[in-house]
Amino acid sequence: MVIGKPFLTVEQIQKKVRELAGKISKDYEGKEIISVGILRGAFMFFSDIVRFIQTPMSIDFLIASSYVKTQTTGEIKIHTDLRENIKDKHVLLIEDIVDTGLTLKHIKDMLLARNPASLKICTFLNKKARRKADIDMDYVGFEIPDEYVVGYGLDYENKFRNLPYIAIFKKSI
Ligand code: IMP
Ligand code: MG
Repeated sequence: MVIGKPFLTVEQIQKKVRELAGKISKDYEGKEIISVGILRGAFMFFSDIVRFIQTPMSIDFLIASSYVKTQTTGEIKIHTDLRENIKDKHVLLIEDIVDTGLTLKHIKDMLLARNPASLKICTFLNKKARRKADIDMDYVGFEIPDEYVVGYGLDYENKFRNLPYIAIFKKSI
């Protein structure tokens, strides 16, 4: 197993985080939001970005995981739901990476059924190549190619989440 050189460096990440936070602060001016982090992957991005968002906010988390039963069917499990009631609230969902889109689609539909005032999505990484669910994102950090990445919250078998940068993960043969 080899972790290569950074695909996205700490500096690139921090610059992008501030840029996204700036856009978000501007778009939500005069409003109050609830930022919802999707754990575990988004924990680092979430804690980085919220400190640069100037909009008054409360925070909450969802713990979700996706597992693939067959090649084509992804099934999503919600391990821990929100604690807050989001009815009539402006919800900002914060995710680490969107791949097939199935996780986010599931979460989005589940939360929309609770009648928030609005729901927007912010993802740090977007891997379009493998998209299966049609989903619009409001804020995207980086578009990335079809590679498996680790670090900055993202894992391989729950490891490498603590890397401060993002690397392409390659399994040795
Ligand atoms: P989706 O449902 O296929 O969009 O998958 C989303 C989830 O799969 C993400 O929240 C990640 O937890 C995980 N995931 C997808 N691609 C990667 C990757 O390249 N590295 C690490 N985790 C990934
Ligand atoms: Mg995730």
